[in-house]
Amino acid sequence: MKGVVLAGGLGTRLYPLTRVTNKHLLPVYNKPMIYYPIQTLVDAGITDIMIVTGGNHAGEFLKLLGNGKEFGLRHINYTYQEGEGGIAQALSLAEFFADGDSICVILGDNLLEKSIRTSSVGFQKQRQGARILLKQVPDPGRFGVAQLDGSRVIGIEEKPKVPKSNYAVTGVYFYDAEVFEIIRTLKPSGRGELEITDVNNAYIARGTMAYDILEGWWTDAGTFESLLRANQLVAQHRVSAATNSAES
Ligand code: DAU
Repeated sequence: MKGVVLAGGLGTRLYPLTRVTNKHLLPVYNKPMIYYPIQTLVDAGITDIMIVTGGNHAGEFLKLLGNGKEFGLRHINYTYQEGEGGIAQALSLAEFFADGDSICVILGDNLLEKSIRTSSVGFQKQRQGARILLKQVPDPGRFGVAQLDGSRVIGIEEKPKVPKSNYAVTGVYFYDAEVFEIIRTLKPSGRGELEITDVNNAYIARGTMAYDILEGWWTDAGTFESLLRANQLVAQHRVSAATNSAES
């Protein structure tokens, strides 16, 4: 399985922080934001990775990450998204890289406490379709929200005014090679973007969508509040990890 980190878009919700840099290069505690999703993929054993970036600062990713030596990688693939056509449009640029393989996609502003390895193994056993990771949140209306029926997810709504559950769809997605065919069928949403939620609903309609409930904390970092929260969560995590190792 290959990994794709989506780090395009203009990050306008963080203006003026993102006026002269890319959102994913901003610091989260002691590392640039993009380090966290890359590490999540590497920790799950996914080492063939492409980064989709965009905007005026794409060259900075190459300077920062190079060939991924800090992550124990020998090579990182890069591609460039013109404009801000949406998450699914950014993902479509990885088709050539995926080359028929299945992929794990992670949004460049998503940070997770725990490993996604179990979900990765679950998806590989599944053999086809897609798998998403859900997390109960107090503010579901900020996210894609999943409607569940026992072990099945029966629909996802993007930022609903009246959420049908408090299960947010996190920015980690497993897809088979069909995903690129699905993206070709999408029409831009009201906000002019190709939506990842429409991709996920297409898999639900085919009956091939599975889900896991994510363990540990999860946050995005795309607003002032969530960026602050991401910093606090990483800082607390480091303090408790240091305390635990001092005690053992
Ligand atoms: O964080 C999880 C949420 O991410 C999901 O629950 C939502 O269903 C999903 O739509 C998304 O919502 P956001 O509105 O928070 O997405 P945002 O526009 O902030 O984009 C998230 C990341 O996706 C961003 O950090 C980089 C990448 N992206 C986004 C756009 C719009 C791209 O690479 N290209 C793009 O054009």
